[in-house]
Amino acid sequence: MIDLHNHSLFGIDDGSKDIETSLRMLTIAYNDGIKDIVLTPHIAEEFKYNIEDAIKNFKILREESKKIFKDLNLHLGFEVRIDKEVLKKYEENIDNLTIDKKGKYVLLEFPFLDMPLYYKEIIKYFTSMDITPIIVHPFRNRKIFNNLYLLNELSKMGVLFQFNIDDVLNKNVFPKFIKVFKENKVHFISSDAHSVDMRPPILSSSYRIIEKRFNKNIAEKIFYENPKKVIDGVMVENKVLNNFNFFGIIKRYIKKEEADNGISL
Ligand SMILES: [Fe+2]
Repeated sequence: MIDLHNHSLFGIDDGSKDIETSLRMLTIAYNDGIKDIVLTPHIAEEFKYNIEDAIKNFKILREESKKIFKDLNLHLGFEVRIDKEVLKKYEENIDNLTIDKKGKYVLLEFPFLDMPLYYKEIIKYFTSMDITPIIVHPFRNRKIFNNLYLLNELSKMGVLFQFNIDDVLNKNVFPKFIKVFKENKVHFISSDAHSVDMRPPILSSSYRIIEKRFNKNIAEKIFYENPKKVIDGVMVENKVLNNFNFFGIIKRYIKKEEADNGISL
């Protein structure tokens, strides 16, 4: 599995405080079967650091990690708040905010309560440079959570959606999550891990739920194939459930035909 959204990088934001905690978090992830992690510190007004500090800590952690885990790959990205003032600082070097500086994918976060009036401008700013925005945990924004139609609006603008494991594990949110999933608006599920205990980097429990609810192919797409494409900087298809829907339609059609012909099953 691949974790696209993770705060195990130490000393930068509200995630890991020190390198020991980072290594403990990486151990949890590794033991859970995660082999690639994108470390994504917040870029937001309340976190004041230079991007060079994040790069420096990333290199230190990567070196330490290599000594313990031979086949764990760390990548650097950022979770960028949709905030004009924050983005202004990076205008000159916008590729720095993209995953592994490849200039292909960026994680964007809405504020929790509102959607800034200019959010479409920001999304267009990235897409016009051929950078695909991945909207992280859209359900954490109250407006989107209460009006799922907003996801359609966003989707039309060419973004992809990353949901958190909480959306899968929380029984109250799950039905809404499945509705959105069936509309092909779930492309990735990530841990958004911040700690070893309260918000740990564990994906396997969510993987099993998705596998049971849909099938193994769909789970692989969400937890491995799609995030792998992001890391490789290649295109991710907007539709996840193409085939699933197709067979669903055929099944319903056959059932209807049988009902019309008076065949009871
Ligand atoms: Fe996050």
